[in-house]
Amino acid sequence: MVRYNFPECKIELDIPEEVYFPAEDTFFLIRNLKLNNNITSVYEIGGGSGIISIFLAKNFEKTRFLVSDISLTATKMIQSNCKLNGVNSQIDVVCMDKLNAIRCLSPEVIIWNPPYLPNDLETQKLPITDKLMLIGGKIGYEEIYELIIYLQSSKANTSLYTIFSSIAWDEDNFEEISGKGVHLEIIKELKLFFEKLYLVRFDFGEHGE
Ligand SMILES: C[S@@+](CC[C@H](N)C(=O)[O-])C[C@H]1O[C@@H](n2cnc3c(N)ncnc32)[C@H](O)[C@@H]1O
Repeated sequence: MVRYNFPECKIELDIPEEVYFPAEDTFFLIRNLKLNNNITSVYEIGGGSGIISIFLAKNFEKTRFLVSDISLTATKMIQSNCKLNGVNSQIDVVCMDKLNAIRCLSPEVIIWNPPYLPNDLETQKLPITDKLMLIGGKIGYEEIYELIIYLQSSKANTSLYTIFSSIAWDEDNFEEISGKGVHLEIIKELKLFFEKLYLVRFDFGEHGE
């Protein structure tokens, strides 16, 4: 395992090979996420190395975070990286699938830089640990849509910030679940060499009114 310095975020992280190494999508999210100054509670799904919540915790000292990852290795790394950066008292870490173990959904904001690539001939060649980090389903957005439908049905009052890739998604794909107590806004687009990334906010319940 190697320790890396991320000067832009002013943090250090230990990252083993099986854990997602912060990439363009991570920094795109960090740079463009605008949180309210007095926000009290944030949940992050799929924390990976922990970079997003650790960065936010250092900048929002009064905010509490709950971070999940489906990978036990990632969960352990998030915990130790929180200690390394002195924010462990602000961040709870849980190994779970999305937010499935939580019945009372009360955070003001949920963040997920999810696996968003399709399961195709290219991605099928990846090792299993990479698949978990990168593939979001047969089309690519199934994992995140499952969460959106869960948030709709649980009548949560929250906003979800997430990322899609033009390889697997465009705004029209949202029609199948729109108009049922959820409002979508594309916050920012990032053109890369082979794809475009979208940072999207979904507002649920009172947040969408
Ligand atoms: C693209 S990586 C993002 C990691 C980190 N947040 C970042 O931006 O650098 C996606 C993360 O989601 C996690 N993940 C995948 N499916 C998940 C699920 N169903 N529930 C929770 N985490 C999941 C992966 O293990 C991985 O850490």
